[in-house]
Amino acid sequence: MKEDARVESVLAAMTFDEKVGQMWQINGGAAAHEALVREGRVGSVLNLAYWREHANPAAHYNRFQRIAVEESRLGIPLIVGRDVIHGFRTVLPIPLGQAAAFDDALAEEGAALAAREARAHGINWTFAPMVDISRDPRWGRIAESLGEDPLLASRLGAAMVRGFQREGVAACGKHYVGYGRDYNTANIPEGLLRDVYLAPFEALVKAGCMTFMSAFNDLNGVPASGNPFTLRQILKGQFGFDGFVVSDWGSVEEMIAHGFCEDRSAAAQAALHAGVDMEMVSRCYTDNLRRLLDAGLVEKAWIDEAVARILRIKLRLGLFDDPYLPEDRLSVTLCDAHRALAKRAALASAVLLRNEGAALPLSAAVKTLAVIGPLADAPRDQLGCWAMDGEPEACVTPLAALRAALAARGGTVRYVQALAGSRDTSPAQFAAARAAAEAADAVVLVLGEEEVLSGEAHCRAYLDLPGAQHGLFDAVAACGKPVVVVVLAGRPLTLGAINDRAAAILWAWHPGTLGGEAVADLLLGCAVPSGKLPVSFPRTVGQVPVFYSRKNTGRPPQDDARVGVPEGTPLDPKGFTASYLDCDYRPKYPFGFGLSYTTFAYDGLQIRTPAVRSGESVVIAAAVTNTGACAADETVQLYIRDVTASATRPVKELKDYMRITLKPGETRQVVFSLPTAALAFHDPAMRRVVEPGRFQVWVAGCSDGGLQGEFAVVGE
Ligand code: GLC
Repeated sequence: MKEDARVESVLAAMTFDEKVGQMWQINGGAAAHEALVREGRVGSVLNLAYWREHANPAAHYNRFQRIAVEESRLGIPLIVGRDVIHGFRTVLPIPLGQAAAFDDALAEEGAALAAREARAHGINWTFAPMVDISRDPRWGRIAESLGEDPLLASRLGAAMVRGFQREGVAACGKHYVGYGRDYNTANIPEGLLRDVYLAPFEALVKAGCMTFMSAFNDLNGVPASGNPFTLRQILKGQFGFDGFVVSDWGSVEEMIAHGFCEDRSAAAQAALHAGVDMEMVSRCYTDNLRRLLDAGLVEKAWIDEAVARILRIKLRLGLFDDPYLPEDRLSVTLCDAHRALAKRAALASAVLLRNEGAALPLSAAVKTLAVIGPLADAPRDQLGCWAMDGEPEACVTPLAALRAALAARGGTVRYVQALAGSRDTSPAQFAAARAAAEAADAVVLVLGEEEVLSGEAHCRAYLDLPGAQHGLFDAVAACGKPVVVVVLAGRPLTLGAINDRAAAILWAWHPGTLGGEAVADLLLGCAVPSGKLPVSFPRTVGQVPVFYSRKNTGRPPQDDARVGVPEGTPLDPKGFTASYLDCDYRPKYPFGFGLSYTTFAYDGLQIRTPAVRSGESVVIAAAVTNTGACAADETVQLYIRDVTASATRPVKELKDYMRITLKPGETRQVVFSLPTAALAFHDPAMRRVVEPGRFQVWVAGCSDGGLQGEFAVVGE
C-alpha cells in the first residue's frame, strides 16, 4: 500500500486522544511512562535509555517499543530521539571542527558512524545537524554549528542528513530559524533571512531531512515555535517539506515567557496554527487541544495534518514494518573502524594558524619534549559539548599520544599540567612549567576551554583564554625557546599577544575521542594540517560580529589604513571610513584560512565563460601547485562578488570549494562550473533573482586574497 494510503488508513482509525498522543514527546524511560505509551498518549520519547544505566539499551528500547506496538490499541510505533551531534560513544570533533575539514564525504561518514552506534543503543532519531549560521563566537553553541557561511553549512548539513538517514536514524534540521545566541531574540531582514539563514534548511529539505526542530528564539518579534510565516509558508509551503516539525524543549510553553501567548492554551493554539507538529516535553497540546477544538479555536485539519506528518516519517523510517532494533550490535561501539574514522576527522579538522620558522613539524631530533597546560590531558574536555554518550576513558589525549610517540623514538615527555583547569587562576605551577620548558628540546603548550564553557546556555562575554592561561604562556615563553601552542576550544578565541609570540598555533577545536593522536601526528609530522577556518576569528570581542561576507558600505575600510588617530588630529571628514580607531577592521584569522607544512601556488586563472546568460554556467579554472616538500591537502575555494545589484551584496560569497591532494611539485587544474542560479539573491521585492551585470570572482585558498577575475551575466 502506498505511503499516503497507509497514513490515511491509520489516521482514520485514530481517536482524538490517540492523535494528540502522537503530538507529544516525553523525556526518559521512567516506568510511569509505560502506561502513557500503552494508552497511545505518546508519539515519541527522547533520552529513553542512557547506556550507562542499561546494560543493553537496545533491549530497553525494544521493551518500550513492544508496549507501543503490541499493547496499545492501534500499535503505532514510537520514534526515539537523542542528541547525537558529533559521534556517539565514539566522539568526533565538534561540528565546527568538522566544518573546518570542508569535506562533505567525511562529514557524511561521520554521521553514518554516529547513526550506527546510536541505533545499536536504541535510538532512531537524532536532533542533528544544527545548521544555524553562526557569526557570534560569544555563543556557546557555535561549537555545534557548521560555521558562518550558508554554502558550507548547506553542503555539510546535507551530507550529515544523508549519513544519519542511510543508517536508519531520522535527522532533524535545527534550530529553525534564525537562532544565534541562547534563547535570544533575532532581528533579521527577510532578504538576509532567505539568502543566509534559511539557505541551509532548504538544502536539508532537498537532502530528504525527515524532521526539523523549531527554535527557542523569537524572530522579528514572533517566536520561531509560533511562526506560521517561517514554518507553514516557507518550510512546509515553499520548500515543500513533508516530514514533521518538533518543537525545541518546552519552546511551545515558553511563548508565554516571550510575552507572545497569554497562557498554555494560547501557546498550543499558536504553535499548532504555526505548524509545530510535535511538542517536546511541555504539555500544551496534551492539555488544551480538545478544548481548543471544541471551541473552534483550532481546526481539526491542523491536527490531522500534524499526525499524518508524524505517521509518514514513522512509516518512511520503517518503524511500522520493522519497529524493533537489533540487540546484538553493541560491538560497533568504538570499533577499530570507528576509531580510525574519528582520528581521520580530527586530523582533517585541525587548522594551522601560525608556523614561524617552520617550528612545526617538530624535528625528529627532539628527544625531550615539554608538554604543558590544562588541556594536554583532559579527556572529558577534548570530547567537547553535546557528547554525553562519549567515554572519556576511551580518549587518547595529546599527552598520552605524545608520550607514546616520544617513547617510540627513545625520547621522553616532561609534563606539567600547570593549571588545574582552563579557568584556574593560580600561578603556583608556573615555575615548574618554565623549568620543564628549559630542560626540553621543544615545548608544546596545550591551552583552550574546558568543554563546559562551550555548548548550550554557555555564552561568554569575553573570548580570551580563560583563567591564567595567558600568564602561563608568558611564563613558559620566558625560557626563550620556541613555544608551540595547541588550542582545544569550542569557538574562536582571542589570543592577544600569543598570536605574535607563539612559534606555532594549531587549532584543534574539541577534537573528540582520538583528538590526542591526531594532535600528536600533526605536531610530529606524521600528518599534515589541512583544515580551513569555517568561522572568522576576531581580534577582540569588540569586533563581533565579524565575518568575511560583509557589505562594502559607501565608505569601505582601507586595508592599509593606519589604526589610530594621533592626538590633535584636526577633524577631516575626508578620511572617514567604516572602520575602528583602535583595531584593524579585519578579523585576526579570516574565514577559509589555514596553513600547511607545504605551500601552494595559484596561477593561470581562466574565466572560460566571460559572459553568460541566466540559466547557463560560469566555468572558471586555475592551476594549483604544491610548491613544497610534502604531500598535502588544500581546499580550493571559489568566491564571487555581485558588484552592483538592486540590493547591496556582500564583498564576497563562497560559491564552491574542492578539497584536493597534491604531491610535492604536482599541479592540478581545478575547474569550477557554477550555474548562474547560484548567483541568485532576494531583491527588495523578495524575488529570488539573478541580475545581469559584472561579477568579480576569486579562486583562492582563503577568503582573503587569491586569483581575481571577472565575468558578466548578460541580459536576455
Ligand atoms: C535543547 C536544545 C536542542 C536539543 C533539545 C533536546 O534545549 O536546544 O538543540 O536537541 O533540547 O535535548
